[in-house]
Amino acid sequence: ARTVKLAVIPGDGIGPEVVAEGLKVLSTVAPAHGLALDTTEYELGAKRWHATGETLPDAVEEELRGQEAILLGAVGDPTVPSGVLERGLLLRLRFSFAHYVNLRPVRLYPGVRTPLAGVAPEDIDMLVVREGTEGPYAGAGGVLRKGTPGEIATQDSVNTRFGVERVVRYAFAKAAERPRKKLTLVHKDNVLTFAGELWQRVVREVGAEYPQVTTDYLHVDAATMFFVTQPERFDVVVTDNLFGDIITDLGAAVAGGIGLASSGNVNPEAEFPSMFEPVHGSAPDIAGQGKADPTATILSVALLLEHLGYAKAAAQVETAVAEDLRARADSGAVRSTSQIGDDIARRVAEQG
Ligand code: NAD
Ligand code: IPM
Ligand code: MN
Repeated sequence: ARTVKLAVIPGDGIGPEVVAEGLKVLSTVAPAHGLALDTTEYELGAKRWHATGETLPDAVEEELRGQEAILLGAVGDPTVPSGVLERGLLLRLRFSFAHYVNLRPVRLYPGVRTPLAGVAPEDIDMLVVREGTEGPYAGAGGVLRKGTPGEIATQDSVNTRFGVERVVRYAFAKAAERPRKKLTLVHKDNVLTFAGELWQRVVREVGAEYPQVTTDYLHVDAATMFFVTQPERFDVVVTDNLFGDIITDLGAAVAGGIGLASSGNVNPEAEFPSMFEPVHGSAPDIAGQGKADPTATILSVALLLEHLGYAKAAAQVETAVAEDLRARADSGAVRSTSQIGDDIARRVAEQG
């Protein structure tokens, strides 16, 4: 058996609740695939910040760097000023570990209710490749004349040729592997002319190496409309950090809800540990009540397994989730977070 060093950051709110279920499923599936886990849990988030003022001490970041993968619940808490944990912990990890691919599948599983009318599972099957290290997230900008009527706040979008090209290359490679072989660039090049033109040019240039991939372009505002009216237009979507954040919450909603949406913050070269987490946040409104759906985290565990080279184990987890989702449609019973985790783990175990 190979031993994988896995860091676990449960984080805030529902984070610990859903991570426990993700680990339950992971530890159920792993042994049969020759995978042993050496798990280290890191207490990071609101509690630590209140106790010590720390978000991510340098020494902890160094330890994380030595791990092979990270499983994260969620960070952010109403008692901590907005942005302190989100930037100081989550974005810092994405930036430090060059998670330039934020991989967010948007899939409608059979039996899952979508708010869209007349849509079948085959109509919603996309892969959003969100850039993860640049854009307006970079932290460029600042505040001038604070507190005066003339106050100016700027938040610059950073788009480097290097950063755009590496994520666009990844998206083309993914599109080439999929049956429909279509890549849609989502941007706003009619207004964000500097960045938009760079993204367009890079897609054109890299696209020349992928003649088998059809490329398309949509302004982000129109893309939100088509996510709802014609989701079948989309196969692989490549987009900047902020647009990708927004359209993947929309993607989650059309594909059955934020409780099902998984993601991977991937460093494809495996130079640094990749980090897997549900798309949702810490959901303070339902934290501590056993109401959170752990499915998004469990599907993120499947992405983690796939990334580590355990494709069969990943497929088993996904199958168990698909079965559970179908069973939900029939039964309608309300289950707690841990009951859903138990049921999915049992279905994994039954596959042998
Ligand atoms: P949120 O995703 O936490 O919650 C939005 C809504 O979705 C809430 O009504 C919540 O109850 C519901 N929801 C979320 N996950 C659910 C689940 N698994 N099962 C059932 N319902 C679920 O987003 P928000 O309210 O905008 O943000 C709350 C906090 O989380 C903020 O501090 C924000 O910064 C942070 N956040 C963190 C991450 C992350 O760690 N990756 C992502 C998004 C938001
Ligand atoms: C997400 C979250 C984060 C983001 C926040 C919490 C920094 O919304 O993972 O989608 O905007 O990327
Ligand atoms: Mn988000």
